Amino acid sequence: MRDFPHARPTDAYARTYDDASRDPEWFWGHAARALHWDVAPQVILDRSKAPLFRWFAGGVLNTCYNAIDRHVEGGRADQPAVIYDSPVTGTKRTLTFRELLDEVARFAGVLTTLGVAKGDRVVIYMPMTPEALIAMYACARIGAVHSVVFGGFASHELAVRIEDAEPKVVVSASCGVEMAKVVDYKALLDRAIERSAHKPSHVVCLQREQRRCEVVNGRDHDWHALMAKAAPVPCVPVAATDPLYILYTSGTTGRPKGVVRDNGGHAVALLWSMQHVYDMNPGDVFWAASDVGWVVGHSYIVYAPLLLGCTTIIHEGKPVGTPDPGEFWRVVQEYKVRTLFTAPTAIRAIKKEDPSGEHFARYDTSSLRALFLAGERLDPDTYHWARQLIQRPVVDHWWQTETGWPVAANCLGIEQLPVKPGSPTRPVPGYTVDIVDDEGTVLPPEKEGIVTLRLPLPPGTLATLWKDDERFVETYLARFPGRYVTGDGGYIDEDGYLFIMGRIDDVIIVAGHNLSTGSMEQALSAHPSVAECAVFGVKDAIKSQLPVGLVVLKAGVTRGHAVICDELVQAVRQAVGPVANFRKVAVVARLPKTRSGKVLRATMRTIANGEPYTIPPTIDDPATLDEITVALKSLGYARLPETPIGD
Ligand code: COA
Ligand code: AMP
Repeated sequence: MRDFPHARPTDAYARTYDDASRDPEWFWGHAARALHWDVAPQVILDRSKAPLFRWFAGGVLNTCYNAIDRHVEGGRADQPAVIYDSPVTGTKRTLTFRELLDEVARFAGVLTTLGVAKGDRVVIYMPMTPEALIAMYACARIGAVHSVVFGGFASHELAVRIEDAEPKVVVSASCGVEMAKVVDYKALLDRAIERSAHKPSHVVCLQREQRRCEVVNGRDHDWHALMAKAAPVPCVPVAATDPLYILYTSGTTGRPKGVVRDNGGHAVALLWSMQHVYDMNPGDVFWAASDVGWVVGHSYIVYAPLLLGCTTIIHEGKPVGTPDPGEFWRVVQEYKVRTLFTAPTAIRAIKKEDPSGEHFARYDTSSLRALFLAGERLDPDTYHWARQLIQRPVVDHWWQTETGWPVAANCLGIEQLPVKPGSPTRPVPGYTVDIVDDEGTVLPPEKEGIVTLRLPLPPGTLATLWKDDERFVETYLARFPGRYVTGDGGYIDEDGYLFIMGRIDDVIIVAGHNLSTGSMEQALSAHPSVAECAVFGVKDAIKSQLPVGLVVLKAGVTRGHAVICDELVQAVRQAVGPVANFRKVAVVARLPKTRSGKVLRATMRTIANGEPYTIPPTIDDPATLDEITVALKSLGYARLPETPIGD
C-alpha cells in the first residue's frame, strides 16, 4: 500500500544505500567530517581484530565538545538547547547552549573534584530532569563512562549494574514523580549500594522539593551545594574508540548485558541519522518522548539532537493522565516540535482515551513534520489511527539498544518511500539485513526466519559488552560467523521491506520496555515456597505484552495460594521493579516439559494468547497442557479456541 501520496519516487535511497554498502570506509569517513576532531582518524575501519571491528581508530575528539561547545562557538549560544517541561511538578525551564555549557562544565568540575577521571565509571539513576542530561554530558566532557539506570528498576537490578560497572560516583535524586506518586529514588539507591559488593566512594544527590532525602555522612553530597562552589573544566580529548557509556539491556538470563558505546562512531552515526533518517536541520526542535534510562533517551533525547545543533525536550510526564491525552500535542504546539518520537504503546494509550482526536484538535500541531515510532512492533491499526489523526508521515522504525540507532526506517531525509503498514520499511544505509534459517542459510523473500545483520556493523553500534568480549561474541556473533544475531524473528518481502515478527528469545517487550523473563523467574525462584517457575509474555492491547508467571510449589507447602501469589507479585516488584508490570501469577501442579526437561514456554504463551497450538511431539505428558489452560483461564487468559491442531 502506498501511503505517502505526495512522495515522489527518486533513486536517492537506492543510491545512498549502495554507496554505504559498496564502500563503507568512504561513506562513513565522509560523514565523520561533520564533526570536530582533535586528531583526524588514521583508519576509518580497523578490521584487524574481526569480528571485533573498531571505527575511526586513531581519531581523537570529545563528544561533549561536539554537542555543546562547538555550537556555542559557532553562533548558537543563545538558542535553546534543552527544554524541560514537567507537568507532574508544574515546572518549565529552558537552557540555552551557553547556559547548558556552563552547567555541564561545572558539573564536570564537581566530578573531577570527587576524583573521577578519564575511563572511570559514573552511574546515573535519575528521573527525567535536565540534571540527568547535564550529568551525562559532564561525564563525556572528562572522558568518564556513564551508565544510566532507568528509574523504574528496583534496587536489585540497580545493584547488579553497580557491581558490574564499578562506579566511583553515583549521581541520583531524592525522588521521581510518577503521575501522582512520588518514587523514593534515593532510598532505592541506598538499598542497592547496601546489596552491592562494590561501593561507590561518593553519591551526588539532587534534592527535589517533592520529597527530600536522607544523606549518608561522608558519602553523600548535595548537587546544588557542590555546583555553587564548582569551577568549570575543559573538554578532555578522548580516543574515538574509548567508551562513552555502558547501557545495560536485558539478556536471556537474569544477568543484564552492558552494551558499550564508543565516542567516535557514536557521534558520527547519530549526527548522520538526525539528518538522513529524521530529516532534521540545525535549529529545529526534536522531541523523543522516552526516558534517559533507555537507549532512545541516550541517542535521541541527549546526544543526537545536540550534536546537530537542535533543541531537545525533556518531558517529565506521560502521554495520558498528565493531565490528559492531549499532552503530547500540547508540547508539540508550545515548543513547535518538528519531529516527535515515541513508542507505539504511548499512541495506543492516547487512542484509548481520545479515540476521535478531540484533544488533538485543541492544539496547533502545524510545526510537526513526522511521527517516528519504535521500541516494539507498530501494529497496522495503530499506524492507521495515528496517520489519520496527524495527517503527516508516521514512520515505524526498528532498532535496539545494541545498535544505538535505526537499522530499518523510512529515511525521510533521503527519500520518502511508500509505506507498508506493519513494516519498518527498508534497511538504513550502512546495514545489511539477512533472514537466515537455523543453519545460517539465507532465506528467500517472504520466508520467516532469524533476523541477522552482516558484519561489520556500521559506526555507532555496540563495540562490545562491558568487560566481556567473550560474552559479546558468544551472544551475538558466534552462532553464524560473519553475522550479528538480533534476537528478532521476521522476513523480507519481495520489495525488500522488512517485517519484524517478535523476539525469538526470552526477552519480552512491555510498554516499549525490553525486559528479561529470566530476571522475573529468578525473583520467583528465590521465594521459599517455590520449587520451579516459568514466566512468559502474553499479548496486551495497550502494552503489547505483559508477563505472566506460573509456579510449582515445594512439597509440603500448605499456605494459601492467594497469599503466596501476592507475595510473588511483590517479590518481582522488589527485585526487578514496577516497570516489569508483573501482576499475574498462578500456582500449577507441574509445568509442561519436553522429555529432556525443557520447559515449553512458547506453547504456554500460545495457549495464553488463545491461539491454536500444536502439541509438541517431544512433550513429556500432554495432559499438563490442560492443567495449564485451566490456570491461565483463572488469570483471564486462554479465552479463545483451545482445540489443539495437529499433533
Ligand atoms: N521511575 C519509577 N517508576 C516508573 C518509571 C520511572 N521512570 N517509569 C515507570 N514506572 C512505574 C510506573 O509508575 C508504574 O508503576 P505502578 O505499577 O506502581 O503503577 C510501572 O512502572 C509500570 O509503568 P509503565 O509500564 O510505563 O506503565 P504506565 O501505566 O505508567 O504508563 C504508558 C503506560 C504506555 C503511558 C508508558 O509506558 C509509556 O509512555 N510508554 C512508552 C514510552 C517509552 O518510554 N518507551 C520506551 C522506549 S521508546
Ligand atoms: P530495546 O533494546 O529495548 O530498544 O528493544 C529492542 C527490541 O524491541 C528489538 O529487538 C525488537 O524486538 C523490538 N523493536 C524495536 N523497534 C521495533 C519495531 N519498530 N518493530 C518491531 N519490533 C521492534
